[in-house]
Amino acid sequence: MSYGNVVWFTGLSGAGKTTLVVALEKQLLAAGQKVQILDGDLVRENLSKGLGFSKEDRDTNVRRIGFVAGLLAQHGVTVLVSAISPYRDTRSEVLASYHRKLEVFVDAPLTVVTERDVKGLYLKAIAGEIPHFTGVSDPYEAPENPDVHLRTDQLSVDECLERLLAALQLSPVAV
Ligand code: ADX
Repeated sequence: MSYGNVVWFTGLSGAGKTTLVVALEKQLLAAGQKVQILDGDLVRENLSKGLGFSKEDRDTNVRRIGFVAGLLAQHGVTVLVSAISPYRDTRSEVLASYHRKLEVFVDAPLTVVTERDVKGLYLKAIAGEIPHFTGVSDPYEAPENPDVHLRTDQLSVDECLERLLAALQLSPVAV
């Protein structure tokens, strides 16, 4: 059996990672692939329950997600990871362990994600109510050389999807 691809979406909270993995999952399922999403928010409710947002805990979270992604990929599953994964070295270390992978930078400026404030967290973070909040009071290290770089404040979801499918050598289908 051939290895599955690990498609790793990194970016600030609210940049659009979850929206894109859900849209991409539909396309990959329609193309007959086995797909699994590993989303930071969900992983933190089970596999990483109890972890916080220190560098150490985030790295542990990212390595756990990375480990499970690797197991699935070995069985031919395409894995879509959606996690802030803010530290460049840890992302690179995990990504280096896969046979097939793509690093996707879901990029929207802080001003834009703060305006969107989908989960209402940025206002609280700026008010100092959430310590160590990525982009506000904690670092985000952008990929230097991502395989796909999506400016979600400039591109529509469909345009982002087209670029992702092109990187995976697939054509969009109506779903
Ligand atoms: S990661 O840094 O360890 O990769 P992950 O993607 O799993 O983060 O979780 C991020 C989500 O946790 C955010 O989308 C947000 O809903 C929530 N969250 C709670 N506190 C923080 C914080 N201090 N920094 C970033 N996200 C936080």
